[in-house]
Parts: sequence; C-alpha cells; structure tokens
Amino acid sequence: MMFIRSFIFFFGVLATVLLGWAALVGVPDFMISEIQPPEGLQRYTDEQLYGRSVYIREGCMYCHSQQVRPEGYGSDQDRFWGRPSVPADYVFDKPHLLGTMRTGPDLMNIGVRQSSEDWHLMHLYNPRIVVPGSIMPPFPWLFEEKLSPGPKDKVLALPDSLAPQGKVIIAGRDAIALTEYLLSLNRSYPVAQGKPDTTAKK
Ligand code: HEC
Repeated sequence: MMFIRSFIFFFGVLATVLLGWAALVGVPDFMISEIQPPEGLQRYTDEQLYGRSVYIREGCMYCHSQQVRPEGYGSDQDRFWGRPSVPADYVFDKPHLLGTMRTGPDLMNIGVRQSSEDWHLMHLYNPRIVVPGSIMPPFPWLFEEKLSPGPKDKVLALPDSLAPQGKVIIAGRDAIALTEYLLSLNRSYPVAQGKPDTTAKK
C-alpha cells in the first residue's frame, strides 16, 4: 500500500512538472521556432554585440524598454515612433531586452529617432547637457579625462562651462561600442506578420 502511494505521488509530481514545462517552455518554444529573420533586419556586428553587453552591464534595460506595443495598448506608436514590434524583430537578441519599466523612452528604434553619434556620447556622459532637466543618470566612467587627445581619440565637444580645466574628455571603448549598438536599433523595415488590427477602433 505504502509503495503504491509513493508511486502515485512520484508520478503526480512528475506529471505536474512536465505539464508546467510544456505549457511555459515547450509549446512557446515550438511556436517561435519557425520564425525567420525579416529581410531588413541586420545581424549585429561584433562591436555592436559588445556594446549590447555594455547596455546589459550598465542596467539600461531597468529604465528602457525595447517594444512598441500595437494600437489599443497605449500610445506607443505616437510617442516612440515605429510600427508595433513582432517576434521576428528579436531573432538576433539573446537575451532579448524587452524591458519591464519605462522610466525613460522606448529604445526599439532609437537609431532612427536619434542618429547622431555625438549626441549619444554627450548624452551618456551627462544627459543634462543635451536634455535639460533629464533624470537619466550620467555614465562618466565610460569616458576618460586626458591632458591632450591622441590622434584616434574621440573628443567630446563640451560647452566651456562644463569642460574640465585644461583637459579634454575622451569617449572610452565601451561608450563608443554602446553608441554603435544604440545606432543599430532600427526596426523600421516592413514586416508581413503582426500588423495592428486597424478594425478595432478605440
Ligand atoms: C534611472 C533610469 C535610467 C537609466 C538607468 C538609463 N536611462 Fe536612458 N533615459 C532615462 C530617462 C528618464 C530619459 C529621458 C530624458 C533624456 O532624454 O535624458 C532617458 C533617455 C535616454 C535616451 C534618449 C531617448 C530619446 O527618445 O530621446 C537614450 C538613447 C538613453 N536614455 C539611453 C540609455 C542608455 C544607453 C542607458 C544605459 C547606459 C540608459 N539610458 C540608462 C532614464 C534612464
């Protein structure tokens, strides 16, 4: 009797775990396994991938999402620009950086909305230089102070009042890679699937 009960208990637990796995992992994985990268979506370069790792390391995704929701789920398209995101937009994103909070704007298409490298570097060094009153934290450790720049150095064109006395600010490798990653965020190519349901009027 004891043996049969243990047996039932064991298989009950096993079935519960397997069902949970199937519903939360197996079936969703199968559903997205056939998704092909859209024609317009570029693979990340090594430099952009490194920049992406800086994005993760610095915790940018705690304040920024990367998903434009369809019509009827808020005003994402007016605020953040671009068509609603589809699963195929993320085929090269491992891990994906959808984000859960929007303390700052969505960055799904930031490469299109703000395509200036200088702007991004300045903004990372100190957001308030380019966006007065910004509450985004500065990331000065991605930059270096130098007495005089080398020939390949990327010097920030800081306003005189903010430049350190007799020194220049150079964008570090991580800042440049991160900016390359941000500029690569462009999901403006057309996609067939996941078009917003325009029949559902608000
Ligand atoms: C504590 C929250 C917070 C964190 C962390 C944060 N940001 Fe921001 N970010 C904001 C806010 C708020 C804004 C809007 C004000 C502004 O433009 O500075 C913003 C704006 C931006 C913009 C301009 C968006 C636009 O539409 O103009 C970019 C690009 C950006 N952040 C990139 C980053 C990157 C890259 C990181 C990580 C290194 C990061 N942010 C970390 C809050 C944050």
